[in-house]
Amino acid sequence: MGHQIALSAALAGFNVKCTDTNSQTLNQAISFSENYLKERVTKGKISKELAQQARENLSFNLNLEETVCNADLVIEAIIEKLEIKRNLFSQLDEICPSHTIFATNSSYIVSSKIADATQRPDRVCNMHFFNPALVMKCLEVVKGPHVSDETVEQVIQVAKKMGKTPVLLHKEIYGFLVNRLLQATRKEALNLLEMGVASFEDIDTAAKNGLGYPMGPFELLDLTGIDLAYHVGTEKYNETGDPADRPSSTLVEKYSKGEFGKKVGKGFYNYEKF
Ligand code: 3HC
Repeated sequence: MGHQIALSAALAGFNVKCTDTNSQTLNQAISFSENYLKERVTKGKISKELAQQARENLSFNLNLEETVCNADLVIEAIIEKLEIKRNLFSQLDEICPSHTIFATNSSYIVSSKIADATQRPDRVCNMHFFNPALVMKCLEVVKGPHVSDETVEQVIQVAKKMGKTPVLLHKEIYGFLVNRLLQATRKEALNLLEMGVASFEDIDTAAKNGLGYPMGPFELLDLTGIDLAYHVGTEKYNETGDPADRPSSTLVEKYSKGEFGKKVGKGFYNYEKF
């Protein structure tokens, strides 16, 4: 999601620096951004000037230190593994100025699990975007007990300037608002599939045509990433030990075959690779 968050912020006028540990991922982000901006201009959705301004606002760099050393806000969108996030935040804490706010785009990991890896827990919070981040307006801001009012206010201002409609959670809770609602549907969809009640295509059709959802639960899994769903489920199961939290057999099978969804060209559905 990082590349779409970055581009969204660049289009809103922020000066954005984007980094990744993997050069291929960074190159994909560069070509996505260029193709997206060109297409928006061709479609008449944005002016040439705005596209050019966004290009100038956005840069990519493999070096973490060079990327974040002057940042006012860092939005992390890395893998959903707590220890990896904690290591990153601890590094950020050493590199960034003392006023820098650190936000995690994590879907499930509350910032109080990360904040103590830094010397600035009052400036570490959740800023949770939705896929596709260039389109979805909702943004969940979560105020853990350690987060200052000033941090929340600043993050909400950034969200609004990005054209998002932030919702504020006054308490940390697993899955926040949206993913708690989404999980209920997803779990039942996988359950119905595994019971052989209907094909995944028909379950998607039922959700779209029977409930008016813009996408079915399997299309959405492909969009958000089966690997993400697998990691999130595994992390939760490791924490609770509750078999109900374990990723379903369908997700485990897809994950082990590397069928992570749209980003690799295959998940439940097949896609053209970009
Ligand atoms: N990236 C960027 N823009 C995209 C896009 C993508 N992957 N897919 C579609 N768009 C844009 C199109 O360019 C188009 O823009 P325009 O109208 O300004 O030209 C607009 O979205 C509509 O696209 P389409 O007409 O091609 O298709 P749809 O009308 O079917 O909309 C959709 C596509 C916006 C993805 C819609 O199906 C939708 O809202 N789906 C549900 C998405 C959702 O539920 N997201 C939340 C997931 S949960 C999550 O992210 C949490 C995380 O923690 C896992």
